[in-house]
Amino acid sequence: MSEHLQPLAVITGASSGIGREFAKIAAQRGYRVLLIARNLRALEVVSRDLRTETHLLALDLTAAGAVDQISGWLSDRSIVPEIFINNAGFGAFGPAAEMDEAMLKKMIRLNVMALTSLSLRMARHMTRAGRGRIMNVASTAAFQPCPYLGVYGATKSYVLSFTESLAEELKGTGVTATAFCPGPTRTQFGVNAGLKEDSPFDRLSADAARVALTGFDAMMAGRPVVIDGFTNRLGAFMTRLLPRCAVRRIASNLLQKME
Ligand SMILES: NC(=O)c1ccc[n+]([C@@H]2O[C@H](COP(=O)([O-])OP(=O)(O)OC[C@H]3O[C@@H](n4cnc5c(N)ncnc54)[C@H](OP(=O)(O)O)[C@@H]3O)[C@@H](O)[C@H]2O)c1
Repeated sequence: MSEHLQPLAVITGASSGIGREFAKIAAQRGYRVLLIARNLRALEVVSRDLRTETHLLALDLTAAGAVDQISGWLSDRSIVPEIFINNAGFGAFGPAAEMDEAMLKKMIRLNVMALTSLSLRMARHMTRAGRGRIMNVASTAAFQPCPYLGVYGATKSYVLSFTESLAEELKGTGVTATAFCPGPTRTQFGVNAGLKEDSPFDRLSADAARVALTGFDAMMAGRPVVIDGFTNRLGAFMTRLLPRCAVRRIASNLLQKME
């Protein structure tokens, strides 16, 4: 049980983009926040605008011991967070076989391995406390194969599948798990994934603050899966109706045009 009265929300990848917006919403809704990312300067900038008790952890979640450091930070203070958002993640556009293998392994360590360890540890502690909300940020890339964004898409399919299973296993415990699936969103994601500023991906992108609000509200409502935006929901639905070979081809054409 937490020894503090004000509940804590932990957000990974809070130094920019959707994670920064989650931090703002959590602060506005009366949570203390623990913000995690590698760039301490950027975390400090985010924390300046938050009118709540704010803690910062500069951590590379792909580094050995990073997950233990988060667990240690919480257990040293006897805190079980009310909310834990696994948001940190990155992607890479292009043919997978031409990509740097070390970078792809790092992507899997961040998007899949750190997210899994943190989800399971939080689920364990929250279940004992009888309450809590876990949100894992997946993507609309989770719903089909994503040629030219293949490894990233596969990590997000994992996040979706794993989180849905966890949500089911947590039923009746007072703890919920939500897989949040945004479509293209205006953040550092595109540029970090190798796209130019003002790419078609950028022009298609939704506002990060609005996207984050959809996810946050769905998490608070305990929904197992939420897709942001009508067009994205329609796209995900169509992948169930069309033959797999057609889905692959359409995804390939669309993703090639994003660069
Ligand atoms: N933007 C989109 O179009 C889109 C669409 C669907 C899903 N998503 C997902 O949304 C989530 C947030 O991404 P975003 O769009 O907000 O992109 P972003 O602006 O690039 O933010 C990514 C965040 O993750 C952190 N991060 C990256 N590598 C890290 C590491 N090794 N250890 C700790 N933190 C790390 C970054 O901070 P530091 O660099 O300071 O570490 C940053 O705070 C990701 O999971 C992404 O896959 C994005």
